[in-house]
Amino acid sequence: MKPRILIVDDNENSLILLSTKMEADGYEAETARNGLEALKKVASSHPDLILLDVMMPVMDGYEACRRLKSTEETRYIPVVMLTARGELEDKVTGLELGAEDYIVKPYSLVEVSARVKSLLRMRALQSKLNETEKMAALGEMVDGIAHEIRNPLTTIGGMARRLFEHETDEEHKRYADVITKAVLRMERMMQRIDEYKGILVSRLSPGGINGVLNDAVAEVKTLTGGKSITIKTDLMPDPPELNMDKTNLKVAILNILQNSVDAIEKEGEITVSTLPAQDNTLIVSIHDTGSGMDEEVLKKVFHPFHTSKMTGAGLGLAITYRIIQDHMGTIEVESERGKGTTFTIKFYIPPGAAAPSLR
Ligand SMILES: Nc1ncnc2c1ncn2[C@@H]1O[C@H](COP(=O)(O)OP(=O)(O)OP(=O)(O)O)[C@@H](O)[C@H]1O
Ligand SMILES: [Mg+2]
Repeated sequence: MKPRILIVDDNENSLILLSTKMEADGYEAETARNGLEALKKVASSHPDLILLDVMMPVMDGYEACRRLKSTEETRYIPVVMLTARGELEDKVTGLELGAEDYIVKPYSLVEVSARVKSLLRMRALQSKLNETEKMAALGEMVDGIAHEIRNPLTTIGGMARRLFEHETDEEHKRYADVITKAVLRMERMMQRIDEYKGILVSRLSPGGINGVLNDAVAEVKTLTGGKSITIKTDLMPDPPELNMDKTNLKVAILNILQNSVDAIEKEGEITVSTLPAQDNTLIVSIHDTGSGMDEEVLKKVFHPFHTSKMTGAGLGLAITYRIIQDHMGTIEVESERGKGTTFTIKFYIPPGAAAPSLR
């Protein structure tokens, strides 16, 4: 999704100039003509950044900024004040009100462009950091709980199995069986938690991605459980070497592929491809024609213990996320209910590795 920039200015020419520039930079531009209108737009369209003129009728930029920064939902949207007056006092007022940056008019569009880019990048890093911290804290907590649960669980499972073996009353036998199955499910979860802990360290060394992808594909082919699934690969012939932990990376890919298999009800297709991309990166894309996800599931897809499956631990993608992070890569997902899902992993090619040849 394109980042959305709200431009607030009472001068029609400035609005046109700035929105044209923002759109040319690849953003979605929205406009408002005074502070009040801006607040309304913010509430309805949740911009990623606001360019805010100071002198405007109805409500000036300072007042709009003050209100934005005193409301929890809007506090974290970066605000750049556009001030006509170069007076120190004006700059300070804006910053004191919580604006992230200011630009003095007459501004150069190149400067506006650079400031916007840098603030958006900082905001993206910040939110990634929050997410990572949240996931690490959650992981630790869960690990602690799992540790406490493991022994009693073994006892319950053992007792239930003995009851099942010795019980003669059919109904009681059934209860024991239900308990055994529930315990098995929890034990599977514990196993996943161990796996989660086990992959905490990735030891990176240079290697080729194709081997890892082919291994993972070969393995998932044995796990399709009788469904009619075509798994295709479309890999670059000589990809540049990446710094990787082959074992962990295979786990990461396999978790994605296993989900794709789960998402396909009876028949479908999974495609694993690699392609060179800009900025010296290599992209691995995994697409399936499965059930897809709606917004709510999509938002939490990488969170530990988020699952929609009866027997899922909800850890597969949390593990994948963690491994990709250890490889200094990024992972994103796009999905549409009823259509399918695409995971895109981006790896940075270390300097010195041969650049990928364009197909
Ligand atoms: N390719 C996909 N298509 C549709 N839904 C998906 C896909 N990948 C993930 N999901 C959704 O995201 C959830 C989380 O996936 P994740 O792999 O983390 O856990 P899980 O598969 O439920 O359990 P586990 O992998 O630990 O056995 C899944 O339960 C499913 O709802
Ligand atoms: Mg899974």
